[in-house]
Amino acid sequence: MTSIKIHDKEFEPYLKDEDIQQRIKEVAKQISEDYAGKRPLFVAVLNGSFMFAADLFKYLEIEAEICFIKLSSYKGTQSTGKVITTIGLDDDLFGRDVILVEDIVDTGKTLHNFLPRLIHQQPKSLRLATLLHKPEATVHPLQLDYVGFVIPNKFVVGYGLDYDGLGRNLKEIYQLVS
Ligand code: IMP
Repeated sequence: MTSIKIHDKEFEPYLKDEDIQQRIKEVAKQISEDYAGKRPLFVAVLNGSFMFAADLFKYLEIEAEICFIKLSSYKGTQSTGKVITTIGLDDDLFGRDVILVEDIVDTGKTLHNFLPRLIHQQPKSLRLATLLHKPEATVHPLQLDYVGFVIPNKFVVGYGLDYDGLGRNLKEIYQLVS
């Protein structure tokens, strides 16, 4: 893996494809154990989580459902903090065991602003799963139940995550060279 350029910025290799897949298998195993005998509903947050959600879902060993929603608080490499919903939640969450799936929890603003809307629907249980977590960037602390990788406060791309629309198709995760 070598460094790459996306738009005006340089990114260096950070997490390898096989390490990402291995970790997702472990998280899927843990979820399968925790939800044995249940049928959780995964609510995946687009666009960034589409790859993580697909792989996580594929590795599950239990019955489960999945749906997708779209929220946004990001422009370029900075979170704006304003959450916009562009694709809503059609599924009824009442009485369901819900697992919200994110690509990355950075400041926590997106989920902090969106969670009340989920809780309002009275799911039976609600847990959060994220591939990446940047604890140093936390503004709104959240209880994250399933975390793939804890990473430093540096902008990353790849495996679903973008920099101004590009980089989502990379199998690996790259970190901004600063
Ligand atoms: P938060 O609201 O600050 O926690 O940001 C959450 C959203 O911002 C994520 O779902 C991503 O879409 C985006 N985001 C945060 N950090 C990064 C990053 O390093 N690379 C790409 N997108 C990011």
